[in-house]
Amino acid sequence: MKVLHVVGARPNFMKAAPVYRALARRGHEQALVHTGQHYDALMSDVFFMALEIPNPDESLNVGSGSHAQQTAAIMSRFEPVVLTRKPRIVLVYGDVNSTVAAALVCSKLGIRFGHVEAGLRSFDRSMPEEINRLVTDQLADFLFTPSVDGDENLAREGVAKEKIFLVGNVMIDTLIQFLPQADKIYPQLKAELSLGSFGLVTLHRPSNVDDESTFLPMLQTIDSLSGELPLIFPVHPRTRQKWETRLKKCNPNLRVIAPLGYLEFLALQKNAKVVITDSGGIQEETTFLGTPCLTLRENTERPITVTIGTNLLIGRDWELLRKGFHEALNGPRKQAHCPPLWDGKAAERIAEILTSKL
Ligand code: UD1
Repeated sequence: MKVLHVVGARPNFMKAAPVYRALARRGHEQALVHTGQHYDALMSDVFFMALEIPNPDESLNVGSGSHAQQTAAIMSRFEPVVLTRKPRIVLVYGDVNSTVAAALVCSKLGIRFGHVEAGLRSFDRSMPEEINRLVTDQLADFLFTPSVDGDENLAREGVAKEKIFLVGNVMIDTLIQFLPQADKIYPQLKAELSLGSFGLVTLHRPSNVDDESTFLPMLQTIDSLSGELPLIFPVHPRTRQKWETRLKKCNPNLRVIAPLGYLEFLALQKNAKVVITDSGGIQEETTFLGTPCLTLRENTERPITVTIGTNLLIGRDWELLRKGFHEALNGPRKQAHCPPLWDGKAAERIAEILTSKL
């Protein structure tokens, strides 16, 4: 069976890695297409190295642009790749522009494709990722869901039951595989960053960082909380481009640094007292690790991290942020559990299903 994987942005790489390996173990022929949506070495190359993924067989080099420009560029450059390589199946990951662009190309060419991390919904169509999820799931032939809420969402949207497979969370497969390595590098990282007790911050969503009436009060609150606990803030290029000058004025306890590699970031998530974020994947990783997570969003497409995990939705309530922060530090802490099937075997299930069905 010839499988073509499409990745493009940082959160895709950790999802594709275990699926690639599980299919390789079964002897399938595979190729990897990198759209180039993320292109900085720190957003892309370092992940290929750390996650031990082979170099891309095809690089589409699309770079940045408006959503329409980026999606269109991926489509027009991906179409000839599919036509030449004639895969039996294409796999797309997550909810980024690369995901939906590849999904559209495959469905118009009549090439079957699977969506890994299907069914997640925030029910907020102002999020570009929600549009990407809705479109991709309507078109996919195989929908691999990480949790049961995904199955329910897809059933409600009329997706045929036979196409839906509850497999668990592939990102957690990667976390479980690489946690021992992250533990190993932690003492050195701790020394390099002179860490004692600390918290971790990431912010990149357009709805948080594009508009100063949202971003500035958010940053001010985080900046003042760093007076109580040093906070490490690896900054996404999008946030840095917009706020470089303002970030330089932060309290020195808010440590603004470059994006980190996979192992480094994982080690920090595990050892942080609290994580403040607007990312999707970090809500899941902190739930697995048992680290309190304060999510600066009004909603989440990963509700299981709130219902049974460590996640608390803060929205834009800065008082709630302070309260959540103090509880994470001093208690009482929310009781949390690991969701079912987040067990390191999701990619194996995907590989089994594809091998038996195709
Ligand atoms: C994308 C995904 C988002 C995911 C995030 C993780 C979409 C719609 N969004 O958001 O779901 O959570 O990745 O990082 O696909 N830039 C660089 N260097 C890079 C990449 C980006 O400088 O390597 C800058 C560019 O100026 C670009 C901006 O960051 O315009 C945003 O990048 P883009 O890929 O459009 O979306 P993200 O905000 O990264």
